[in-house]
Amino acid sequence: MTNLFISKYIVLIIILFIGVGCFRTPEEPYSIAKSATTASAMVVTAHPLATEVGIQVLEAGGNAVDAAIAVQFALAVVYPIAGNIGGGGFMLVRQPDGEAMALDYRERAPLAASRDMYLDSTGQIVDGMSTLGHRAIGVPGTVDGMMTAHARYGTLELRDLLEPSIALARNGILLTAREAEELNLARAEIEQVNLSTAPFVQMDPWQTGDLLIQRDLAHTLERIAHAGRAGFYEGETARLILEDQRAGGGILTQQDLDEYQSVWRTPIRGWYRDLEILSMPPPSSGGVALLQLLEGMEDQQMTADDLLTVPSMHRMAETMRRVYADRAAYLGDPDHVTVPVDQLLDSLYIRARMADIRPDSVTPSTQVQEGDWDTTESEQTTHFSIIDKAGMAVSVTTTLNLEYGSKVIVQGAGFFMNNEMDDFSAKPGVPNAFGLIGSSANAIAPGKRMLSSMTPSMVVDQGQIRLIVGSPGGSKIITTVFQIILHTLGLEQPLPEVVALPRMHHQWKPDTLFVERDRFHPDTLSALRALGHQVIERSPIGRVDAIWIDANGRRTGAADPRGDDHAGGY
Ligand code: DON
Repeated sequence: MTNLFISKYIVLIIILFIGVGCFRTPEEPYSIAKSATTASAMVVTAHPLATEVGIQVLEAGGNAVDAAIAVQFALAVVYPIAGNIGGGGFMLVRQPDGEAMALDYRERAPLAASRDMYLDSTGQIVDGMSTLGHRAIGVPGTVDGMMTAHARYGTLELRDLLEPSIALARNGILLTAREAEELNLARAEIEQVNLSTAPFVQMDPWQTGDLLIQRDLAHTLERIAHAGRAGFYEGETARLILEDQRAGGGILTQQDLDEYQSVWRTPIRGWYRDLEILSMPPPSSGGVALLQLLEGMEDQQMTADDLLTVPSMHRMAETMRRVYADRAAYLGDPDHVTVPVDQLLDSLYIRARMADIRPDSVTPSTQVQEGDWDTTESEQTTHFSIIDKAGMAVSVTTTLNLEYGSKVIVQGAGFFMNNEMDDFSAKPGVPNAFGLIGSSANAIAPGKRMLSSMTPSMVVDQGQIRLIVGSPGGSKIITTVFQIILHTLGLEQPLPEVVALPRMHHQWKPDTLFVERDRFHPDTLSALRALGHQVIERSPIGRVDAIWIDANGRRTGAADPRGDDHAGGY
């Protein structure tokens, strides 16, 4: 099987490179499909080569989790801006019989971390300390997560799942225009925090179609293929991580690496109309906030024609404002703080909370506090969706946090380390990189997981999987997934069209209604301003890679036109 798989893979590489030659234009090296419909299996990821790796694993007899593991490692090679082995993520798995599990491989604060570690002697946040360089790094969870997923669900040999990525790292990948530009933009910061910037910085600016070869990363992946978890958290890779930490002033220790464990959690389950929603529980805020948003819109009578109109956008913004106020107050790592999930998801509570929304004016965020009940988080994360022929579904969102994470390249090991520590609330009330504020629930503590907004989700209709969905976008992830579900299921619009629709976002603070630039009619924006919204046009919101499964079981993959995302299957 192994040899068969490797030889099939070599054929794939040859086909891809011939294909690359055929389709190559001066601008772009790959042929990208934004939607595809198949009978059996579908893979949608942020990069055509990663999608092809996933398909290849499925064709070799692997299941959706095997494919997801191979895609996670492939993205670490072909999409280093967010794909990773130095970061973390969340995986939602649903078996054809309905059993669903959520794997939390989120980073944790190092054991030497402390609540005020990003404050100076006067209590002020030290600018950039939680986002750039060695102090911004949380203990990476990705490799442990993939081993944990493999132990429970994997059917192919681990080596077979890593081999495609090792070959891509060793042989090199052609850069898309977008990737070349992103690497050029990050150059100054990469140079600032690394002794050697190879292979991510070259003398001249990167150009479309340049070949990026990652030999150190190929060796690191070899070690993982050989020794599994120990190939990363022990031995040579661990030695390189810790040596780099010492040289750069980081605080990670061998104990941090030894103690890191991913956790199986029970997915958040809820209802939107008669559809079952499955999503990520804390330490992501995603599932809780998504269900609050859907419940908050449940009684709204809307048609497909009016969702992007002023009354609907107003209602959504007001709902988002209230939900994000709850997020800031109550959500954090459930292994460290009590997160009142049941109360937050109580429909009476949510309806009461939305009761003061006025159709004709905004409620300023200063007048919106978290709710109360009687008893008492550029688009640089990545999401991928996979379904296999048996109907096993996987929804994964994984990240380094900001683009190329902390910009720290583990010297000799060839991969970027995350800057996930910025997802903590470094100081109550002070916004992080996404403008999110938090409370003690998300304060830094040793070993604690930082609150996330990642929202890998699924929608189930009478026991049948209908939608696999997720997005990058920091705080905007939740509202992006919410809008996809509303349009696709609430309003029955085709998924590829929905993924391309303009999007909006509100997160309570700042008190701003963000809308994608040049995507909304000026009259719509004027009318929203007249209602009292502070409307700001901004760069694209989210990058959705999703799969729709129709009543006949046909799979339609939708890859977001906002990126190089690619859908394919068979
Ligand atoms: O876990 C989170 O919510 C963030 N670290 C995700 C970061 C992200 O989506 C970056 N993209 N804009």
